[in-house]
This record gives sequence, structure tokens and C-alpha cells, in this order.
Amino acid sequence: MERTSGWFKDAIIYQVHVKTYRDTNGDGIGDFSGLISKLDYIRDLGVNTIWVMPFYPSPLRDDGYDIADYMRINPTFGKVEDLQTLIREAHARDLRVITELVINHTSDQHPWFARAKKAPAGSSHRDFYVWTDNPEQYQGVRIIFRDFEPSNWSFDEETGLYYWHRFFNHQPDLNFDNPEVQAEIFAIMDYWASMGVDGFRLDAIPYLYEREGTSCENLPETHAFLKKLRSYLDEKHPGLLFLAEANMWPEDSAAYFGEGDECHMNYHFPLMPRLYLALKKADRGPIEYILNRTPQIPATCQWAIFLRCHDELTLEMVTDEDRQFMWENYSPEPRARINLGIRKRLSTLMDNDLRRIKLMNALLFSMPGTPLVYYGDEIGMGDNIWLNDRDGVRTPMQWNAGLNAGFSEADPSALYLPVIADEEFHFTKINVEAAEEDPYSLLHWMRRIISIRKQYAAFGRGDFNFAEADHPSVLSYWRSYGVENILVVVNLSQVLQSTAIDLNKPGFQAVLEDLFSGRRIHAENGQIKTELHPFEFLWLTEPRPELAVLVEDKLVLGLD
Ligand code: GLC
Repeated sequence: MERTSGWFKDAIIYQVHVKTYRDTNGDGIGDFSGLISKLDYIRDLGVNTIWVMPFYPSPLRDDGYDIADYMRINPTFGKVEDLQTLIREAHARDLRVITELVINHTSDQHPWFARAKKAPAGSSHRDFYVWTDNPEQYQGVRIIFRDFEPSNWSFDEETGLYYWHRFFNHQPDLNFDNPEVQAEIFAIMDYWASMGVDGFRLDAIPYLYEREGTSCENLPETHAFLKKLRSYLDEKHPGLLFLAEANMWPEDSAAYFGEGDECHMNYHFPLMPRLYLALKKADRGPIEYILNRTPQIPATCQWAIFLRCHDELTLEMVTDEDRQFMWENYSPEPRARINLGIRKRLSTLMDNDLRRIKLMNALLFSMPGTPLVYYGDEIGMGDNIWLNDRDGVRTPMQWNAGLNAGFSEADPSALYLPVIADEEFHFTKINVEAAEEDPYSLLHWMRRIISIRKQYAAFGRGDFNFAEADHPSVLSYWRSYGVENILVVVNLSQVLQSTAIDLNKPGFQAVLEDLFSGRRIHAENGQIKTELHPFEFLWLTEPRPELAVLVEDKLVLGLD
């Protein structure tokens, strides 16, 4: 696949775990052949990039983020040839494939860890990991999985020492001060890059180094290593992408772009919960606050924007007060709270209200950055808060109303996790087949919003500027790129809003047309006045004659 530079700015990414998508050998666990068999569905959604979560040999105590062998494929999912087929078949459909580099830690089942324990103290093999005899070291470093781990240190009987882990105690952190560890990481990256993947998500990247007296996060050493990794990538595998997972405040997050010499993309973690806050408070304030606080990023870089993913909806990057508000309003059930977050999917967070699900997606697809869609959210799949850890948002994809939602032919009790079967979100109602048949389904609407977005480079590449609405429940902004100017207007509240919006374009006169409904609004003297229905949103632009036919066509059909 041609690797034009900056391709990721026009990307729409679909996140999937091989395990969750489709099981073809009847063992109750999804496999590569299953994912390959559904590539047409993914392409038809309109996305152009797939992020495939870790598929390496692993005890799966952290869903594959606990890697026991970086250079192989978990046999449960298939063989390396199957991954190659996936890449080839995806590319044939103009879909790029991003995989994961989970380099902060390994599983405790990785042979490196067994070897480290046996190796003499002070040797390079011992020092693949971070050891101490004094667990008072690095005091005050926050614990990420606070519902599960009392400390970042765990005791190892064999060595009589403690080892460092920022996540579960079965995930010892690698020691990046060891040049041999670094060399291994380069080799791992080479191996998968040579296989033809289009980029890597860099899992848990802020935590590579430890230094006494610091938070052990975002250290200069970590940034220096990333620059090295990136320059190696650019030299050996030009055009490949780094997507950083750095759950930090905007200033710290933006540091992972470097001067355009670290990561190409980086999730905007602090924006995500504020989309939910703004909606529940019917107040654009939280979104304005965080975007105003977001630094300019290098022109060659891009934020990644998301609503949900495989983890809890993290509330680390909000104030205590906002976290409490989020918990009380989005997860009144204590069981849905985990660590500092909420383990629910988009549709349950939105009380299955299609208007709000669409509104959140309209924000996702128009805010500055590249959007990510979490598998299943495109059909409004539910979740199961009674499952362990974050498993409740990782249940099998629902394809039809048949056995196991069409995910697998296995005995239902053999599935890696049960399909969603509560009354409201039962898989017999919420599945791809049912959504295909219903012209008003979320799935059809998702295809439509994606196809509209793809007609305008402004969403992925354009400038972002707030327009000023006279009511705090109305959020409005321009996305502009070359001749494209799109005015997004969103009513965050559940009541009708009359609003006047100052477009920040003095004297601007035009007829603006909503890309969804065809509704027309006159802009006069740099202002529009309009009435917005509860949770209504508009993507307004001056009609482009060559697109009018297309848009009208879709309007008549009401679908993609
Ligand atoms: C990342 C992953 C998460 C995993 C953790 C530890 O945050 O998103 O699922 O548990 O890293 O690897």
C-alpha cells in the first residue's frame, strides 16, 4: 500500500481485538480467519484503518497486553501466515493495519523474566527488569490499576528482590536503561514492520524510565528513547505510524509529538471525558476549557480522538469534582466504576438514546483529530458490568440473532466471554444483520456520517476555531481547510434552543446548508440565528454544487 506522508490525518480508525470479532474454528474465541472474513463489513463502514490489539502469545491475564513472546502469534488466533493474509486482504480493500508495540512491560511468563531471575545480580540479563531490595524506592509514583494493586513493587521469592510494575503484578516493567533491552525493542519493531503493518500503537509509553524523586512519568530519558525509535523507524520503514498512548494532561501529552520527531499521533485523553461532561451538564465549558488549554502541535502531527475503547472510560485527567460528577451521572451503579473510571460502552452511557449517541459521534467526527471507533459501538452494542475487570466492554461482536450472536458455533458456555443478553441490549435486537435491515439504524447513520466526513479534508486537516454562541448549551466551531469551511453547531441540551452565533468572520454573508438534512440557514453580517432541537447538531457549509446531487441522493434514501 502506498505510504503517502500524513495519510493518518485522513484516517478513520476502527479498533478491534481478533478474539472478539468472529470465531471460525468453533473454539469460542475469535481468530484471524474470522477477522479476515469480516473485512468487507469493516470497509463498508467507511473506515480506512484497523487497529488490531495484541495477538501475541500471552497468558491473557491482561487481554494480551501481557506478552510472553514478541515474535510469534498466539496460536489460538492463528498463524503468522494468517496475519500476513489479513494485511494483504486489508490492503486490497484500501484498509491500513496498525498493530501494537507493548514495550513498557512483558508478561511474567516471558522467558526474559525467568532468565532474569536466574541471572547473576548485576548482569545484563538480570537487568532486563527493574529490581530493588528497597520497596521505598520511587515512593509516591501513582498506581494505575488501583483497584487491583497496592504497590508498584512486588516481591519475587526466587531472587528475594522486588520488581517494578506500573500495571498488574504479572507485568514486570522492562528496564530501558539496559541497552540490550533497547536492542530487542528495535528488533521487534523491525520484525513486524517488515511484515507489512502500517504502524504501531505505543502502549503505556510515558512509563519507560524510572528516576528517584520524580513521578517516573514523561521523563526526558523516555522522550530521548522515543526520538531514537522514531528516527530508526523513519530510516528503515518510512511512512509507518506511531500512535502514542499517553494518558496525560494536554501539555504533557503534546510532548509525545516532540518537534515532530517522536509520535505522529497521540490520543487526546483529556478531551474525551469532557465531551461526556459537556453533554451531561448541557454546557460547552469543559470542551472550550480543554481545547483552549491544548497546545499547538507540529504540523506533521495529529491528535487521535475517541469516545470509548477497550479500557475503562478513564477519569484520570479531570478534577476530583468532575470525576465525582461523571461517576454520579454516568455510573450510578458502583459496579460500573473501576480504577479511576467507568466500564461501560457508549450506548449504555447514553442510556441507549440514539439522539445522544449520534451527537457524541458528530463531535467525534468533527473535532480536530483522527477519529477512532471501537468495534461494536457502530451498532450500539451494550456491555456487561458483572464481568471481571474491563471484560464487560470486550464481549463478542454481535452479527445476527442466531447462536452466540453469529460470533461462533461453539457451545455458548465455551465462549471466551458471554454475549450481551440483557433485555435492553439483547443481541437478538442489536446485531449487524438487524441493523442492515433497518434503514434508520445507527449502523446506516454511522456509514453516512463517515462518508460525509470523508468528502471534506477540513475535518482531518483543517484549522479549528470556536464560533461564539449566545447560549452556553450551544457549542459551535469552524473547521477550515483551503476553500472548505464547515461550521459545526451542537445543542448539548435536551430542550429547544434559540441561538445567535457570531461566526468570527465579520461581514460574512452566505447561505449555509446542513450536510445531514439539507436545512438552510442564512448567515448575515457574520451571524446566524437559528433554533436547535434537543441534542441537534448541524454541519453547515456553503453548498458545493458538485456535491449537491450526492448529498440529496443520500437524503432521499435516508441512508448511505
Ligand atoms: C494500556 C492498555 C490496557 C492495558 C495496559 C497495560 O493502558 O490500553 O488495556 O491493561 O496498557 O498493558
